[in-house]
Amino acid sequence: MSFGLGRGKPLLPGTFGFDRDDLPSTEGGKIGPAFFFGERDESRPFDLEIGSGKGTFLLQQAILEPEIDFLGIEYAGEFYRYAADRVRRHALPNVRLLYADAGEFVRGWLKDGCVRVLHLYFSDPWPKKRHHKRRVVQDGSLIEFHRILRKGGELRIVTDHDALWLWMEEHAQRSLHLFERVPFVRPPSAGEGEFVGTNFERKYARESRPFHAMTLVRREPTT
Ligand SMILES: C[S@@+](CC[C@H](N)C(=O)[O-])C[C@H]1O[C@@H](n2cnc3c(N)ncnc32)[C@H](O)[C@@H]1O
Repeated sequence: MSFGLGRGKPLLPGTFGFDRDDLPSTEGGKIGPAFFFGERDESRPFDLEIGSGKGTFLLQQAILEPEIDFLGIEYAGEFYRYAADRVRRHALPNVRLLYADAGEFVRGWLKDGCVRVLHLYFSDPWPKKRHHKRRVVQDGSLIEFHRILRKGGELRIVTDHDALWLWMEEHAQRSLHLFERVPFVRPPSAGEGEFVGTNFERKYARESRPFHAMTLVRREPTT
């Protein structure tokens, strides 16, 4: 049980939160959305958010798109518990949270072609050169993201951080054989003048920081 971000109230993920220890052994093969949502219509779209923070995007968007299942991955325990508790209190049937490192989860567990959209909003910039390897976008992670996206699937990125943006643009340019770059389209839950409307976006907007955004659409391998 956790009380920090809950300001004295316990944060309870209940059945809406999954721990890394809940994941099955990787020897049994890779898993898809059914592991988190139970038996479901295979054609239901499945979106992933990496670094959900307090879960604001998930909450706003999942209410507007009940036909899509959303899994948020967050490796900071307090944020994971806060977001999962919010989803539990709203009893949102189409959202789950996973407390794990997203890179490790995608690489080790997630099966090919199951994700409609991968949302990456205000990813940690890790400005020091020796920490760049911790950034979510890497040449290797883009290969994994391409693998888990379904045909026509998208990686949507927004950041306020100029150096991280440059890094992402360079990585996108090197991955043109995997992805086509197209303009970012705001999701329906974004408020007036917002790109997405996450907690970090709202905080940085108050500081008048400029934002950058792009969408990378999965290309099919040529035979
Ligand atoms: C700057 S915050 C942004 C949170 C939220 N997307 C927003 O815009 O308000 C970045 C979040 O990503 C999480 N994060 C960073 N790398 C991660 C990883 N590899 N796996 C899971 N979560 C990660 C951090 O713990 C943090 O909560």
